[in-house]
Amino acid sequence: MTTLITGGAGYIGSITTRLIRSTGRAVVVLDTLENGHRTAVGDAPFVQGDVADTELVERICKEHGVDEVVHFAAYKAVGESMENPSKYFQNNVTGSQKLFDALHRAGVERVVFSSTAGVYGTPDTVPVREDAEPRCESVYAETKLMIEKTLSWYSRTTSMRHVCLRYFNAAGASSDATLGEDWRFSQNLIPHVMKAAMGHAPALKVFGNDFPTPDGTGVRDYIHVEDLASAHVAALDHLAGKGASITCNVGTGFGTSVMDIINTTEQVTGQKVPYEIVGRRAGDPAACYADPSLITKTFGWSPTRSLEDIIATAYAWHSTHPAGHDS
Ligand code: UD1
Repeated sequence: MTTLITGGAGYIGSITTRLIRSTGRAVVVLDTLENGHRTAVGDAPFVQGDVADTELVERICKEHGVDEVVHFAAYKAVGESMENPSKYFQNNVTGSQKLFDALHRAGVERVVFSSTAGVYGTPDTVPVREDAEPRCESVYAETKLMIEKTLSWYSRTTSMRHVCLRYFNAAGASSDATLGEDWRFSQNLIPHVMKAAMGHAPALKVFGNDFPTPDGTGVRDYIHVEDLASAHVAALDHLAGKGASITCNVGTGFGTSVMDIINTTEQVTGQKVPYEIVGRRAGDPAACYADPSLITKTFGWSPTRSLEDIIATAYAWHSTHPAGHDS
């Protein structure tokens, strides 16, 4: 079995690539390296290129005997998507559509897609289930929802089947501290907390402490990136076992506040996290965490790593790789 992994040189993509290989599957990684890193792919077969290059995708599928795909490749900066929507529609939506056409022509029928909990926007109730009305609050989230819908039409009109995985907040690094996120390009909370703890940045800015949450700070569902990776393997196994197309949350089901992250970081690392409370960030929901019962019931998947594991692996990775994979 050969798995094509688009965006396999990125943060979640590289960690998932490693796990997929460990299950005995052959892989081929396709990545432009615009945001990914060649070294993160290691010795896995690699092609530098774009998912929108239909001839290239068809050729890869034939040459490598591709049976299944995990599609990570996308732009993912929420703020940038609001400033340059065309870049996101073009790359994420049009690029994915071209990819699916090429896969269809090459006879590849199984697709696992990286979607986002961002499609829920500010949910009316938490934990949020997959049947909640999608209410995207950014162009980025809208592009992911459009790709979900594109896949659902391919599933209805062709023999293609898919799993859309709606990620909550991916965090942490590989347990051996060799693969992780490049904090130079991340806007997410945990890389910022790590920078503050290690003295690489001034105080962390906590975006609001007046939310209707237990301690007033924003609540999210932080999922260890290796647990996220194992959800992809479970999704591939589901499709290989003739499972039907499905869209699933990938989260822990637990809400964690910004203050919980700061306190756990101080406990796990022994470092103080200097912080200051500032105003709310535009568009931030008070609380968003998953009801993961569908993925547990369907794939038998559930996360095994704790918040302490997330913090410990993030700390080990960032302290040894201050310049990401260029370190
Ligand atoms: C993140 C992703 C989004 C993805 C979503 C899935 C970004 C910027 N956001 O959103 O693409 O779709 O998860 O659920 O990549 N915070 C601070 N100070 C900081 C940074 C963050 O207080 O310097 C707070 C935020 O207000 C929020 C929490 O930390 O309450 C998490 O923020 P972040 O890591 O940016 O993730 P989300 O906004 O949930």
